Amino acid sequence: MRKLQMVDLKSQYDKIKTTVDASIQEVLETTTYINGPKVHEFQKSLEDYLGVKHVIPCANGTDALQIAMMGLDLKPGDEVITADFTFAATVEVIALLQLTPVLVDVDMVNMNISLDGIRKAITPKTKAIVPVHLFGRAANMEAIMQIANEHNLYVIEDNAQAIGANCRFSDGTKKKAGTIGHVGATSFFPSKNLGCYGDGGAIFTNDDALAHTIRGIVNHGMYLRYHHDVVGVNSRLDSIQAAVLNAKLPLLDSYNAARQNAARKYSTAFEGHQNIVAPTICAICDCHVFHQYTLRIIDADRNALMDHLQSKGIPCAIYYPIPLHSQKAYADIRYQEEDFPVTNQLVQEVISLPMHTELDDEQIKFITDSVLEFFN
Ligand SMILES: Cc1ncc(COP(=O)(O)O)c(C=O)c1O
Repeated sequence: MRKLQMVDLKSQYDKIKTTVDASIQEVLETTTYINGPKVHEFQKSLEDYLGVKHVIPCANGTDALQIAMMGLDLKPGDEVITADFTFAATVEVIALLQLTPVLVDVDMVNMNISLDGIRKAITPKTKAIVPVHLFGRAANMEAIMQIANEHNLYVIEDNAQAIGANCRFSDGTKKKAGTIGHVGATSFFPSKNLGCYGDGGAIFTNDDALAHTIRGIVNHGMYLRYHHDVVGVNSRLDSIQAAVLNAKLPLLDSYNAARQNAARKYSTAFEGHQNIVAPTICAICDCHVFHQYTLRIIDADRNALMDHLQSKGIPCAIYYPIPLHSQKAYADIRYQEEDFPVTNQLVQEVISLPMHTELDDEQIKFITDSVLEFFN
């Protein structure tokens, strides 16, 4: 059996080596390292794939979130509501811009921001909501947009973990996660569903004026060379990363299908187990692209399960072990423990198993047998 890894980028690379190497070689031969044709080609291809008017590539997913918020011209003290159960980057940029992060609890079933939590957190100072499509599962964007519209709030989608996932609406239509709010942000960190071989990110919007503003912000606030109209940043996707992404984007749907296939096999093996709550897999399951495959372990020792798996050479991880409201950097006297019952429970129960595009049946069976063996 091939060595088990949380993410197996080498086996994936071996299959696409010829295309990726040729694409990178073109950049080297043309020396178009910054803002070269590869970046423009990627921008256009991603706009087509997502069905969004504007993709603005940038240096990483954290920058993408920050720049999206800068583009909306939020002011210090404006309140921005986001989930307590997410990677710190989401809240970090809110705090960096001197906006006020307002953390709310998540939903137990989909682990995404609680709709009730959002409604309760809205005050006259609230300016934006940042839903995170956590672990690859699209948040309920229809409901979130409805709340936002009722209260005249911006929605900034953190789509770092869910590129390619579809959000379904009650009229039967579908849109790609990240393209529904006023602006979306994603990451191309190597382990992401669409990952490059270094850092990378992008911002999405259908709003022409916002896209124009953001294109200036990523480039030192310049709209005309050496005229700096707003305070900007230097945040670029470099051409070598774009070359990798051009080679990988046509494979994104098949990569997501491979993840969904592995998730289906995992969940079938765990079905009905009294100590395991596996992610629900709907018939078409295109709202979940399984950036992570995350179980909840109930009435059993989750940490002992981790030790058991690791002793058998099976990597696993806890995303995330500490709620954001309990992190030193984001603690606030406004937060009461009883406001976060779900996040506080999830951090004790979750465990993520290996999830990537190259998992084979032998590996999946070894992992599921080893998990089940722990409870026998
Ligand atoms: C939910 C979420 N938001 C934002 C980011 C930030 O992306 P990057 O690492 O590219 O800055 C990540 C990356 O792990 C993430 O998982």
